[in-house]
Amino acid sequence: MPNQTNPAATVKPTPGKPLAGQNALVTGANSGIGKAVALAFAAAGAAVAVNFVTDPAAADAVVQTIRDGGGKAIALKADVSVEAEVEAMFARAVEEFGSLDILVANAGLQRDAAFTQMTLEQWNKVLGVNLTGQFLCARAATRAFEARSAPAVSRAAGKIICMSSVHQVIPWAGHANYAASKGGIKLLMETLAQELAPKGIRVNAIAPGAIRTPINTAAWQTEAAYKQLMTLVPYGRIGEPEDIGRAAVWLASDDSDYVVGTTLFVDGGMTLYPGFATGG
Ligand code: BGC
Repeated sequence: MPNQTNPAATVKPTPGKPLAGQNALVTGANSGIGKAVALAFAAAGAAVAVNFVTDPAAADAVVQTIRDGGGKAIALKADVSVEAEVEAMFARAVEEFGSLDILVANAGLQRDAAFTQMTLEQWNKVLGVNLTGQFLCARAATRAFEARSAPAVSRAAGKIICMSSVHQVIPWAGHANYAASKGGIKLLMETLAQELAPKGIRVNAIAPGAIRTPINTAAWQTEAAYKQLMTLVPYGRIGEPEDIGRAAVWLASDDSDYVVGTTLFVDGGMTLYPGFATGG
């Protein structure tokens, strides 16, 4: 169906609640960036499925925070690199919410090692969660969008946000597996965007820079590390998870309805080759 005849185009947004009436699934939502996205989505009016694989208490706490604020949320356990678990999770989310409007494929991890020391296990783990996980979740979400029978609540027939990284463009010594996974996300996202746009599904990515989360405590916890980190950030501060939460709300809402296949860098300028500010 051509997008311009989509009856959803008549949907009226609720002021201050750009995701009102929408149902979202956020992977890796029990901590860090995923948690901030889940909370920001709930504040924007969405019901949120909070995916986790370890630390159920942390996922329950996110759900409780959302419920305490008058929102709707459930915690769903699944390892995003395991097909059967992903399928079961999406089935459960649709059963609970009735339909799905937004996926944020956020779950990701690092297993750092110098290249000659990197084990196949470290390589496979990172590619499995960071890249295969995005494939499995995006495919399940797309199928859920296509199966939608509930009335439309958004101009798009579905939205997918892939959580990438500045390392989809910045090479990163000692992190070959991680950089390869994020480079892979870039073209996975762009290919899906091209393939799914005719169905009215918008696929985009967010590329965070250095954000204060558990994945990179070594980069910001001490004063010396923070000072070193700031040589890579022209804007002069570390990113907070909420910086990403706000970007994700915009990218999932009708405010960005014409944004398709784009990577939104939220990085304080990290991708601006800061070394060239005084050199070159
Ligand atoms: C990594 C962090 C790192 C940041 C900037 C992120 O994708 O997960 O560990 O601090 O990129 O280099």
